[in-house]
Amino acid sequence: MHTNTTSSLMSNYGRPTITFERGEGSSLYSIDGREFIDALSGIAVCGLGHAHPEIREALCTQAGKLVHTSNLYGIRVQGELAENLTKLSGMRNAFFCNSGAEANEAAIKIARKYGHQRGISDPIIVCMHGSFHGRTMGALSATGNAKVHEGFSPLLEGFEHIEYDDIDEASSALEKANCVALMVEPIQGEGGVVIPSRGYLTRLRELCDENNVLLMLDEVQSGIGRTGKWFAFQHEKLLPDVLTIAKALGNGVPIGACLAKGAASEVLSPGTHGSTFGGNPLACSAALKVLEIIQRDSLLDRAAKLGRLMVRRLNDMLCDVDGVVEVRGKGLMLGITIDRPCAEIVNICFERGILINVTAGNIVRLLPPLILSDETAEAIAIGVAEAVVFFLSKSK
Ligand SMILES: Cc1ncc(COP(=O)(O)O)c(C=O)c1O
Repeated sequence: MHTNTTSSLMSNYGRPTITFERGEGSSLYSIDGREFIDALSGIAVCGLGHAHPEIREALCTQAGKLVHTSNLYGIRVQGELAENLTKLSGMRNAFFCNSGAEANEAAIKIARKYGHQRGISDPIIVCMHGSFHGRTMGALSATGNAKVHEGFSPLLEGFEHIEYDDIDEASSALEKANCVALMVEPIQGEGGVVIPSRGYLTRLRELCDENNVLLMLDEVQSGIGRTGKWFAFQHEKLLPDVLTIAKALGNGVPIGACLAKGAASEVLSPGTHGSTFGGNPLACSAALKVLEIIQRDSLLDRAAKLGRLMVRRLNDMLCDVDGVVEVRGKGLMLGITIDRPCAEIVNICFERGILINVTAGNIVRLLPPLILSDETAEAIAIGVAEAVVFFLSKSK
């Protein structure tokens, strides 16, 4: 049951089917007392689950000291967070903001200024078809999905889209004299949990180096441990020039970051970019605690192990089912391709007490928290596989 107060809200989201009032670990409880397993983590956000006692404690302690001062002044925890993130990622410095879209806006501005500093007055950023980078006008223009563009033209100029996982297309696009950056998700999330061929990112790195183009990785969804590494690019041996993160960084407290190294880390000078709330003490305290817990509790290894367990179980139950095209995943970023539109599977899982999502029309997407027990991981895999079988038996 959900309250009727939503009538005062704009209609940009679909009508909610349920309202939750509390959570604990991987469980959510609705206002009418039903328990759900959260296999979506607020779309890859609550990696440490709900109501984590140490995050609560960190937030309460910080709120009792200082919530906000603005970036006119030094913010100690912001500096600490930047230091931790740069160590974990191999980047040199960080800019903090409040969301994934904003992190990508910062990346886009860095790329454009990098171009202008090299005498390129009409810089092009190469992006991918099937990508998602956010809803603000810059990030939307970078996004390679006509459906989310609809009704919002004119989009920003200076973006060109190529096929994902196609090295030949990347090679010709990057050769253009005014190309300044390539923006890409190591795994496309909204696009359908699309995992590119092995070595793809490394090859893109080489092409960017050959053409003096910045490699900008959008790890807003795949970052902060989701795939079994701190960042998905770490499954290969390369470093990007620019790295954007958000979602899981604050475990639900809004925070995003744009990290950079090399020439890209020297582009922004005083007055060229900023954010009132970005990197405020409250958000940074949450993020610092998130990193500490992931490290201390070896959650990267847990995510990798749980992911393997879930893919194995899903494959056991689905590999011979007509209509299931593929089960795939990296860590706890999992997708099941169905051969037809399958949004109904969300409702079937919901009725069985499991929260999931369908993206790109026919991809069942699972993004459960990294703190799952083996038993809950099994329960999700079995419940979702049964829901898929049930859906396919009805929709022949
Ligand atoms: C890869 C990627 N980039 C950017 C975004 C936008 O993030 P936000 O909704 O925090 O603006 C998303 C959101 O789903 C995403 O998956």
